[in-house]
Amino acid sequence: MAKEIKIFDTTLRDGEQSPGCSMNIHEKIRVAKQLELLKVDVIEAGFAIASPGDFTSVREISKNVKNCTVASLARALPKDIDIAWEAVKYAKYPRIHTFIATSDIHMKYKLKMKPEEVLENAVNMVEHAKAYCEDIEFSAEDATRSNPEFLAKLFDRVIKVGATVINIPDTVGYTTPDEYYEFITTIREKSDYLDKVDISVHCHNDLGMAVANSLAAAKAGATQIECTINGIGERAGNAALEEIVMAMNTRKDVLGLYCNVDTKQIMRSSKLLSSITGVEVQPNKAIVGNNAFAHESGIHQHGVLEERTTYEIMTPESIGLSQNKMVLGKHSGKHAFEDRLKALGYDLSKEEIIKAFGQFKELADKKKTIYDDDIEAIITRNTIAYPEVYKLQRFVINSGNTITSTAAVILMNHDQEIEEVSIGDGPVDAAFKAIEKIIGIDMTLEDYKLHSVTEGKDAQGEAIVKLKHNGKIYTGRGLSTDVVEASIKGYIGAVNKILYQVEEKKEM
Ligand code: KIV
Ligand code: ZN
Repeated sequence: MAKEIKIFDTTLRDGEQSPGCSMNIHEKIRVAKQLELLKVDVIEAGFAIASPGDFTSVREISKNVKNCTVASLARALPKDIDIAWEAVKYAKYPRIHTFIATSDIHMKYKLKMKPEEVLENAVNMVEHAKAYCEDIEFSAEDATRSNPEFLAKLFDRVIKVGATVINIPDTVGYTTPDEYYEFITTIREKSDYLDKVDISVHCHNDLGMAVANSLAAAKAGATQIECTINGIGERAGNAALEEIVMAMNTRKDVLGLYCNVDTKQIMRSSKLLSSITGVEVQPNKAIVGNNAFAHESGIHQHGVLEERTTYEIMTPESIGLSQNKMVLGKHSGKHAFEDRLKALGYDLSKEEIIKAFGQFKELADKKKTIYDDDIEAIITRNTIAYPEVYKLQRFVINSGNTITSTAAVILMNHDQEIEEVSIGDGPVDAAFKAIEKIIGIDMTLEDYKLHSVTEGKDAQGEAIVKLKHNGKIYTGRGLSTDVVEASIKGYIGAVNKILYQVEEKKEM
């Protein structure tokens, strides 16, 4: 019989720690709601003590998520644990996740503590957390470079005072599948209590083995796997959720493992995260890359047309990719639009449908055929909420290969129209410079990317604009059939996020 594996998603904590992946509170709530639809077992919502923004995000996610456990990370310090509890106490199923490093190298150089001190501290802090919360996860940071005998002793002690989950992380992505299997087996043999609680694993991908290591650990007795959407996370990232889940699904025959994730929500979760962070997955990324289900060579295409299973081990539908590409056009009415939304799995409120339908009609005026991807792009854009302090009213560009580009941009700030004109190296640069003049705050353009999100000559272009302000990166995303308009919208999106964050800080 297949064994159940609990999926612990740490996209909002370890994932968010990776460069360029920071999210504001609205974005985090949006991701958390999507993780709930994906049916993960645990959402690690953040590290509550890290900043006031992190605290508020964990607290709001705890209030909003009803079907998953919500965890906050906490160092093994009383203050961290107190704050973590303050943030997760609103959750239907709260968890405090506390950790301390256990490898010689970390204890000596980072903690400057003796193993006995680390052990006492861990026990005291689990006891402290248990006074607040029933569900306590304890992690031994850098476990794979720690002494297994020491770990077994430490785990028994923290379990005795109430730890319900023991995590054995490969913090630096150092182990290999066989070694990790042996390591976990050895600790289980040396421990009297480990098999009475959930054993968790948390693998980083420094040597590209995070997924393989996690699956080997599950075979060695782990019952929970920690992972992130698109594999984002510190350095080379964490084990990718979509790869773990689809490996368990597709190779149940050899792995003998299953989980409760709704695989049809995988693609949507991946796209939502990319559109929020502006960090795209590589085209050949397993499961969610653009080419993961594309067949280019004639031999492969022929094979798939004759019999899909010749070159496909999973169906695109199983991860929520729709095969039905052509959908609606200019003359389609609200009912057809609503039906399509339902078929795509969206459950929107009346107001959200009206807003999306208006945008669909606008797009249909510019674009002959509306594909599912166009609709997904509209909905994703709408669900990323932050106040639009500045809105694009109109713009005029004058550009050519023998003249200097000029841009006149008119933005709305509440009810006021503000216009600026600028020259630049090309139309996009000129438009950005005109916007900078309007906004008048100190920011630098860190990154700018343009790509098409849908198909055909009249495809929608998506611009991802990253602006730096006070050392932090803010990502904006603009969508249009006109690439200059998409770029301007992306720029304004990033500006609005900067302004929103400044306001959020003032309120704290
Ligand atoms: O990588 C790691 O060890 C961690 C712990 C805090 C669980 O992220
Ligand atoms: Zn980690």
